[in-house]
Amino acid sequence: MLICKQTKTTENHLSLWRERGLRIGFVPTMGALHQGHLDLVRKARETSDRVVVSIFVNPTQFNDPSDLEKYPRPIEEDIRLLAEAGVDMLFLPGEADIYPKNLDTSVDLEVDHITGVLEGEHRPGHFKGVLQVVKRLLDIIDPDRLFMGQKDYQQSALIRFMIKTLGLPVELVVCPTTRAASGLALSSRNQRLTQDWQLIAPAIYHTMKWAELSMETLPPREIARMGREQLEQQGFAVEYFDIVDG
Ligand code: PAF
Repeated sequence: MLICKQTKTTENHLSLWRERGLRIGFVPTMGALHQGHLDLVRKARETSDRVVVSIFVNPTQFNDPSDLEKYPRPIEEDIRLLAEAGVDMLFLPGEADIYPKNLDTSVDLEVDHITGVLEGEHRPGHFKGVLQVVKRLLDIIDPDRLFMGQKDYQQSALIRFMIKTLGLPVELVVCPTTRAASGLALSSRNQRLTQDWQLIAPAIYHTMKWAELSMETLPPREIARMGREQLEQQGFAVEYFDIVDG
């Protein structure tokens, strides 16, 4: 596996592959990899000639400085997992490569209808940062296909909108959520759950499954209200529980 830290070297390698007509699949990550990421890599391998993974803990998408500080960064283990998974290139840039001083990386798009609701309402600036970093990564890697997880549904909706509106030449492939046996969606931040919360957190999944089944018999607004109540009874401080048309 090639490990490229600088933008220029990365672009040079990629253009050699592209000259040979090889199709490039790209999986952007912030590291602390788990089976969910590896499932994205597997999907990328099935449909691409070369697979590129990036690891960059993007500061512009953290609205809470302590979340950024505590974000897990087990880089040696990540490198081992990616090499074992058959990744061809790991792009491991520093902040100066992603956000060079002389480059305006902001993305000028009207996205409030996507970012002003759900997760976006509770994490001001988060999606703006996601948009900025994904656009920058796409500019550098220029992949044929971009692989993202359905767990971050709102994020994938935002990226889909950006690709369509800006006419970017990349196909977005959204892959199913990978879950632990308990039903809990795998997430790098799960490493920060206490043992007690590891037992309680799968209730999110069970409540969502209940909501899905209840769509047959109850109005969506009622399901959302009851779902929220069920979680609160189990000790969650619920930020939002909504049923929306994707
Ligand atoms: O989903 C993530 O891990 C991040 O939001 C992403 C897409 C890698 C951008 O930093």
